Amino acid sequence: MCIPDKIQKGSFDMKNFEKYTRQYFPVENPPMRWAQKDYVDHPPIWCSVDLRDGNQALINPMTLDEKLDFFTYLVKIGFKEIEVGFPAASETEYEFCRALIEKNLIPDDVTIQVLTQSREHIIKKTFEALKGAKNAIVHLYNSTSVSQREQVFRKEKNEIIDIAKMGAELCKKYRQNAEGNYRFEYSPESFTGTEPEFAAEICNEVIKIWEPTVDNKVIINLPVTVSHSMPHVYANQVEYMCDNLLNRENLIISLHPHNDRGCAVADSEMGLLAGADRIEGTLFGNGERTGNVDIVTLAMNMFSQGVNPELNFENLPEIVAEYEKITDMAVYDRQPYSGKLVFAAFSGSHQDAIAKGMNWRKEKNCQHWTVPYLPIDPEDVGRVYEADVIRINSQSGKGGIGYILENQFGIFMPKNMKETVGYMVKGVSDNAHRELQPSEVYDIFEEHFINNTSPVKLKEAHYKQLGEGGIESNVTIEYNGKIMNDSATGNGRLNAVSETIQNMLDLEYTLHTYTEHAMEEKTSSKAVSYVGIKDKNGNNFWGVGIATDIIDSSLKALTSAVNNMLNA
Ligand code: KIV
Ligand code: ZN
Repeated sequence: MCIPDKIQKGSFDMKNFEKYTRQYFPVENPPMRWAQKDYVDHPPIWCSVDLRDGNQALINPMTLDEKLDFFTYLVKIGFKEIEVGFPAASETEYEFCRALIEKNLIPDDVTIQVLTQSREHIIKKTFEALKGAKNAIVHLYNSTSVSQREQVFRKEKNEIIDIAKMGAELCKKYRQNAEGNYRFEYSPESFTGTEPEFAAEICNEVIKIWEPTVDNKVIINLPVTVSHSMPHVYANQVEYMCDNLLNRENLIISLHPHNDRGCAVADSEMGLLAGADRIEGTLFGNGERTGNVDIVTLAMNMFSQGVNPELNFENLPEIVAEYEKITDMAVYDRQPYSGKLVFAAFSGSHQDAIAKGMNWRKEKNCQHWTVPYLPIDPEDVGRVYEADVIRINSQSGKGGIGYILENQFGIFMPKNMKETVGYMVKGVSDNAHRELQPSEVYDIFEEHFINNTSPVKLKEAHYKQLGEGGIESNVTIEYNGKIMNDSATGNGRLNAVSETIQNMLDLEYTLHTYTEHAMEEKTSSKAVSYVGIKDKNGNNFWGVGIATDIIDSSLKALTSAVNNMLNA
């Protein structure tokens, strides 16, 4: 084994990297019970924060009508908890909340959630906004991280706890006079920059005031307001909270990961393993900065492991279109599960494996989805296999091109013809520097292989059965405008005609492949024949014939192959 004596260092020192430090507080000696599990077996309680966190991150926040449309759509997807806004923060948010309640737009099994800071006039206005709501969650938060305590609030820990307690008391007081079924949620905002012991302490003070019961559970939300650490550090923090919060059995532990490090999905999944019950996130990960956790990805990750996510993502293209229309945001082409290109296979080897995997499924009648390169069946999220998966460009290969011709055009080439066709089609794409549509693939195939009549055109062929099983054919062709006629024998009609043509044109080749199949068209059934011939230098030429009569189609295929040889 060769071990380098010195590990080579990169040659570039990026400026300012020493300016940064780790702003999180890992749990000391974490039990990491969660790390023994490999996956969740049921979905969390989902809470959409599209209309609040998502909305507050848009260049142009949604109008009231847009929010109403989005709310209706979230309900259609199956969300039972929806944070509708921060009613005390803007008139539109307030009006929106009122409109939902007054127009009776909230189904009985859906709970709206509203956010409030821990300040008296804001809490008061929040409760006013909720008047008449049947079910609601009042979401109280205050910042608890070291940087917020020191820099923004300039307060000591006990003063920060007082802010939370004051808000919790006020919520309790206002709820006493409210008629609806109101539940409470508390977020130690910037939780991931907070010492775990302090986060537990402040949450416990709130829990003591709210006194959760089995019938009135309290939600403790642990936001990754800004992502500072790797996901396992967060999972340890979540586990620590689950172990150190009072009255755990009457709490719902909620996660609210933002995506600064691109880890929001991992944070959520590991946080669920660590004991969380609920996820707050948005469609496609919209939200402040790099966004909130993408609920579509999380839910579809569960789906792809055989866990029912209990949200309806069966038509992702429609959901993408609706989301883009309302938010004016674009879903990235490679956004997991929902991006335009996420099921596309351009590369030849991938296409080949997918085509084989799909055939395997059919042959074996497989119960589970195991097709290579496709984590889920694109059809399960409303994608079309033909248009979305096998895409043809210069990277493609015989498998994918063959798949398109088979599945969209009913052309089942012999195995050894696929390579020739594959090179030809990808060559066209390479020259044009662009993707080819399936119809263009067929056009190339048709132009090069089907029923070629130049320079040789078969005019007539007559046969006579010979005594020992042979056939004599009398063939008339037009060759470069000249009519020629001759006879020869062979061990079948195709063979006899082939011998005659070779004699007439003084050609030398061997006919090595002949296959045929029926092709159903809308109005009639036609025969498709494939002929492969090899010249004396070992070069292969292919031809395809399509005709209503099988003999006719085989002779057309032969003539096409001969023409390809003559034109080479
Ligand atoms: O990201 C965050 O911390 C929030 C809180 C208000 C929960 O959005
Ligand atoms: Zn947030």
